[in-house]
Amino acid sequence: MGVASEKTPITYNDHVKPIFRQHCLKCHGDDKQKAGINLQIYANVLKGGSAGEVVVAGRSSQSLLFQVITNPDDSARMPPYQPPLPDEQIAMIQRWIDTGLRESMSSKSMVKTRDLTFRPTPAGIKRDGFSPMRIYVVCELMF
Ligand code: HEC
Repeated sequence: MGVASEKTPITYNDHVKPIFRQHCLKCHGDDKQKAGINLQIYANVLKGGSAGEVVVAGRSSQSLLFQVITNPDDSARMPPYQPPLPDEQIAMIQRWIDTGLRESMSSKSMVKTRDLTFRPTPAGIKRDGFSPMRIYVVCELMF
């Protein structure tokens, strides 16, 4: 995984795909697409799976892909029945979503700058124990 500073854009090609390759492509790649999801090709990540979108630019907390890697329930979390991804990989994916799902260093962010500020999850949305604040703090420490 590349070194990422505040200024380095987080991209699918450089940062996120290596994480998917390590943990996800066995079941969500060109060979198998569990739940209809193929994470091996950027366009397919944006397309999502049989149940719809898995990433929402600028909104990690509303992105199914982010929810499934942070689910505290062992039987619901991805990858299934494995330890959760390391915090720095979770933070990387979160940052990639929140900074606008860039494909490569030359891609434009899919969110406008004003959308990049952290916002707490609106009251009323049910969360399952995993604190977005914790990831946010990890992000702040890392980058
Ligand atoms: C061992 C196989 C396997 C691996 C590895 C795996 N998944 Fe999955 N994934 C599945 C299966 C099977 C389903 C569909 C059944 C389910 O929802 O439990 C699924 C469903 C999903 C869904 C849809 C969940 C929903 O509620 O509709 C997402 C998003 C997802 N996986 C992301 C990931 C990500 C990201 C990784 C890597 C961090 C990953 N998966 C690793 C097997 C796997």
